[in-house]
Amino acid sequence: MAGGPTITGELDLPGDLPEPGSSVIVTDRLTKTYNLRDAVHQLSISIQGGEVYGLLGPNGAGKTTTLRMLLGLVRPTSGSALVLGSAPGATSSLRGLGALVEEPAQYPYLSGRDNLRTLARYSGVPRRRIDEVLDLVGLLPRAGDKVKTYSLGMRQRLGVAAALLKDPEVLILDEPTNGLDPQGMAAMRTLIRDVGTGDRTVVLSSHLLAEVEQICDRVGVIRDGRLIAQGSVSQLRGARTIRVVAEPIDRAMQVLSARDDVEAVAVDGPTLHVTAPQELAAAFNTALVAGGVAVSHLSVHQRSLEDVFLDMTAPAESP
Ligand SMILES: Nc1ncnc2c1ncn2[C@@H]1O[C@H](COP(=O)(O)OP(=O)(O)OP(=O)(O)O)[C@@H](O)[C@H]1O
Ligand SMILES: [Mg+2]
Repeated sequence: MAGGPTITGELDLPGDLPEPGSSVIVTDRLTKTYNLRDAVHQLSISIQGGEVYGLLGPNGAGKTTTLRMLLGLVRPTSGSALVLGSAPGATSSLRGLGALVEEPAQYPYLSGRDNLRTLARYSGVPRRRIDEVLDLVGLLPRAGDKVKTYSLGMRQRLGVAAALLKDPEVLILDEPTNGLDPQGMAAMRTLIRDVGTGDRTVVLSSHLLAEVEQICDRVGVIRDGRLIAQGSVSQLRGARTIRVVAEPIDRAMQVLSARDDVEAVAVDGPTLHVTAPQELAAAFNTALVAGGVAVSHLSVHQRSLEDVFLDMTAPAESP
């Protein structure tokens, strides 16, 4: 591995399910094989009620396949899942679910409102709910216009409105900001955070780090269909390191590695990378000086989530 702390420790690693009881979605070694290749491989995740959970992974990681399995649209090859206590696709599970997976299906020659009317009639939702959700997604002023005159962002919002019609306990959104311009993305993120407050659980997929960082309480990172890390964004950011440039370096190493509050020390030329709580930086300086070490630089570094993500999703064996 090319330097930097390994992302372990605080994270729930695959198979390490959080407290049972409050999970609204649990998968157990969920696997989907297409043409002898696992699109999703032994995925065990647990999503808690009320959280906004992000499935983060590069193209082809298996995000859509996972969400489709949760919705009962794709049958797993092996493993199982429980969504709201029932098997995916079961009526009792679908009742509490709203979803937007890939292109939303909309009638272009009907207005946004009429599209929702069709859906509401089909799913027995009272008509007054239609304008409520249109308002929620900010489409009320254009609700009477034909969908074919909508921009991509407006169609996405109509898709979210449709998913919200039943006031679902769980909302599943596959790449909800895909194809939107920066303003559209920002509006969609705000909308997701808004609808994800309170008891509603939101599960979304994304290949954008910044996005999950802004929207999600917790993130599962998948690569090649496998869960490689799960935790809060701050946990995924990994440990902070304190960078120390000191002379003589071997003496500095000795002083710091003898301390109980230091998790790890790595030497890189004249620099030490110390894994320890950042508030200890001043105490380290004092200890080093007392130990006869001249400190010329001391700073706290936190790797960006991007570095962490790139590390985690890089091919497993590096040269
Ligand atoms: N119906 C299918 N038949 C064969 N292979 C499939 C099928 N659906 C998905 N796959 C394969 O499964 C893997 C995961 O695909 P999936 O669409 O779940 O990834 P993704 O994470 O959603 O990617 P993206 O970010 O591009 O949407 C890919 O290798 C894909 O080619
Ligand atoms: Mg996808």
